[in-house]
Amino acid sequence: MAPALPRLLVTRRLPKEVETRLAKAYRAELNADDQPMSEAEILDAARDKDALLITPMDRSFATGIIAKLPASVKIVATFSVGYEHVDIAAARERNIAVTNTPDVLTNATADIALLLILGAARGAYWGERMVREDRWTSWSPTAPLGFDVSGKRLGILGMGRIGQAVAKRAQAFEMELHYHNRRPVAPDLAYGARYHAALDQMLPHCDFLSVNCASTPETRGLVNEKLIAKLPDGAIIVNSARGDIIDDDALIAGLTSGKLAAAGLDVFRNEPRIDPRYRSLDNVFLLPHLGSATRDTRIAMGMRAADNLDAFFAGRRPADLLT
Ligand code: DGY
Repeated sequence: MAPALPRLLVTRRLPKEVETRLAKAYRAELNADDQPMSEAEILDAARDKDALLITPMDRSFATGIIAKLPASVKIVATFSVGYEHVDIAAARERNIAVTNTPDVLTNATADIALLLILGAARGAYWGERMVREDRWTSWSPTAPLGFDVSGKRLGILGMGRIGQAVAKRAQAFEMELHYHNRRPVAPDLAYGARYHAALDQMLPHCDFLSVNCASTPETRGLVNEKLIAKLPDGAIIVNSARGDIIDDDALIAGLTSGKLAAAGLDVFRNEPRIDPRYRSLDNVFLLPHLGSATRDTRIAMGMRAADNLDAFFAGRRPADLLT
């Protein structure tokens, strides 16, 4: 008799191709109506499971749920590259493997960073609104006007895979590139960007600052009042990494005082319940965490998570093991 398939809980609906694969290889409990699950619901559903496939919105994995999981759960695969929502130390303590989905979303997320740069600099938000609301009365030589991107200086905060892909794209826009990272990257991965070992040294060179680092205890709140003060007047900040890297009070103060010309945000602290003040600012370009939100990329992320689960249950080391 063939061994029973591992039992898997999937906390959100995934692309059809991914669910079909999971349903063949696992006794999978899928989330057909895509309702986010509470901690209690996850714990209840996890009772008879060997594996959990979660998303960055399952924040209880950072705040205590891991200690309460049944002993049957041996692996948690997150459908994301970021894993600040999983307490890795707690998982290690319980000998639960944790995996993520790097690489496959690099290009899509870097594309969104460029969309934020262009959207914030060129006033895409108010431009689109003028057309939609039928308030576009005439082409005008003087208003409304945005800011050039070409020839401007871009500082990349965090030069991992996504930061590098942002640099590659920004090079095509003829931007002068700078980056800050814990360590310099190999020259062929820097796309001509100049390395600054100290973040403070890079800031005066940033007409644009693109946040591309992971959310960690060291980076949470890093983009604060002091940092913003060191940027050139009229700088533009874009964030396609994690919302909690930005201090919302400081960013909103910079945007309303005129210190900052604009911002482009795809991610927010406590999303989707974002700081409501952003909604009334005309110099912010806002997106609902679309970084990896393309069909191809979401399928690739699901397949990557499934590869990790398959490897684990075949007794192999998953490629993206974090524990
Ligand atoms: C990730 O994978 O961490 C992304 O934020 C999801 O879009």
